[in-house]
Amino acid sequence: MKGIVLAGGRATRLRPLTLVTSKQLLPVYDRPMIYYPINTLKKSGITDILIIIAPDYSGQFLNLLGSGEELGVNLNYAVQKEPKGLADAFIIGQHFIGNDSVTMILGDNIFDPDFSADISNFSTGAQIFAKKVSDPNRFGVVEFDQDMTAISIEEKPTVAKSDYAVVGLYTYDNRVVNYAKNLTPSARGEIEITDINNLYLKNKELKVNLIDTYWQDAGTLDSLLEAGNYMAKKI
Ligand code: TTP
Repeated sequence: MKGIVLAGGRATRLRPLTLVTSKQLLPVYDRPMIYYPINTLKKSGITDILIIIAPDYSGQFLNLLGSGEELGVNLNYAVQKEPKGLADAFIIGQHFIGNDSVTMILGDNIFDPDFSADISNFSTGAQIFAKKVSDPNRFGVVEFDQDMTAISIEEKPTVAKSDYAVVGLYTYDNRVVNYAKNLTPSARGEIEITDINNLYLKNKELKVNLIDTYWQDAGTLDSLLEAGNYMAKKI
């Protein structure tokens, strides 16, 4: 199992904090944000990791993280020239992924849970993770059956079919590379991870794992502050 941290993007919602640096280098309490997704992969047993970054700040990531040895992981780097969408990670990462399966985590997603059992039990198809929320309309919402197989995924629906938000951690078998290459950009001009998930969903190969511990998407000023406060109390 290979790991990818997707840490590019424009981070417009965090301006002016992100005018001269990357979102994923901003502090979440006592460490740069990107330490958290790297550590989530490491705790899940994934140590071979590709960090995908935007061109402007690539040197800062290298200075901070280097080979990854100090964090106990083996880091590789790739530049995403334009934020073409989350599914672009599998095109940029295709040589790194090789013939393996891959787990991708968003660089601004802060987790507490231990995913090691879910990752080591994975064999084929795809798995996503979901958390019960009070305001599902703000998220990608997944509906699933008794076997935890996904039935539908909708982005920011007006009427949500469940209370479960899809979080920024995804595991795919090797087909994901070809699936990503054949995607058509959406109306907002991005190749969407939801389209990849829907390809697995159509084959009944998209499993849903629920998480009931901490998760935060630290992409807004309020959620960044909340994540910092949570970690300050926890550490
Ligand atoms: P978003 O938060 O959706 O986008 P963003 O980081 O550019 O922020 P904003 O909406 O405020 O402009 O991205 C989720 C994560 O994925 C984040 O860590 C950035 C990363 N990302 C990429 O690396 N490349 C991409 O093409 C996209 C769309 C996101």
